[in-house]
Amino acid sequence: MSAPLLAVEGLCVEIPTQRGIVQAVRGVSFTVERGETFALVGESGSGKTMTCPAILRLIHPPGRISGGRVTFQGRNLARLPERDLERIRGSGFVMVFQDPMSALNPVLTVEEQIAEALPWGRPYSRRDRALDLLRRVGIPDPERRLRAYPHQLSGGQRQRVMLAIALARQPALLLADEPTTALDVTIQAQILRLIVTLQKEYGMALILVTHDLGVVYHMVDRVAVMYAGQIMELAAKGDLFARPRHPYTIGLIRSVPSIDRRRPLAPIPGSPPDLIGLGPGCPFAPRCAWASDECRTGEIPFVRVGDGHWSRCLKADLLEAEAGG
Ligand SMILES: Nc1ncnc2c1ncn2[C@@H]1O[C@H](COP(=O)(O)OP(=O)(O)O)[C@@H](O)[C@H]1O
Ligand SMILES: [Mg+2]
Repeated sequence: MSAPLLAVEGLCVEIPTQRGIVQAVRGVSFTVERGETFALVGESGSGKTMTCPAILRLIHPPGRISGGRVTFQGRNLARLPERDLERIRGSGFVMVFQDPMSALNPVLTVEEQIAEALPWGRPYSRRDRALDLLRRVGIPDPERRLRAYPHQLSGGQRQRVMLAIALARQPALLLADEPTTALDVTIQAQILRLIVTLQKEYGMALILVTHDLGVVYHMVDRVAVMYAGQIMELAAKGDLFARPRHPYTIGLIRSVPSIDRRRPLAPIPGSPPDLIGLGPGCPFAPRCAWASDECRTGEIPFVRVGDGHWSRCLKADLLEAEAGG
């Protein structure tokens, strides 16, 4: 078997604050294969957003990467000089942000921004390439839009332009952190579908970060469910929904109306823990119907519960019976 495109092992991020050290990411490990669609899912505050720049070694002080290792295309990113990292950030990975306005340059036209992202030395003109990319991302009247500035576009169009810029770089991996939450619901669905369609067409891998398990259901190959800075469950999408092996995942599935139509909607009671001064034990235990004393005090290992299926739960075996019923 060849090495994965991306391997994240034991990644930790800490942010010192007045109140103490926030442990935003606590030993996150996963791999992404070439061309794969991978999702990081979890409630707000679970550490999804901090994980993305940490992969790229872009955590700004006082925040810091306090542990772990990231291998991209076989190279340990911690060992690379900043110059090589910059190159990888520019073309190896591309991030698509929640708010495209902050990522687009307000004083450059759409054409200038796409052209800037195109690699040098292409045999055809940059303008034609830019125009072609705008067509690919479904921008109406692309000739006119080439001359537009970001503020002249709608939110959905700006997100399409971001995607055109990302495609111009032809990255091996696209990282999209809640790319559509700022948009209205119908546009959200269109843009997400477009991202996944183009990702497959261009052979890019995608890490899609979302709090919405409903989105994941239709779009991705594999899912990592995050809670309190840890991955609680990791599985192929089909296995995750058919045989969830972590109470938090079960809770999430039951709280999404479009997935679990058999039961009444049931939000998970309680709220996520404070990420300052977390002790051993499962961080989900206070909200978990299955929790026992050992869950509250012991170290909870991440164990294999099936083919490519992992759970960080001492009761994973009990849940198998539960989910089947
Ligand atoms: N600049 C910051 N200072 C202090 N705490 C932060 C900062 N940014 C994020 N956090 C904390 O880190 C944790 C993870 O945040 P984040 O990665 O943004 O979660 P998510 O994207 O899953 O909503 C949260 O508890 C959040 O409050
Ligand atoms: Mg976030």
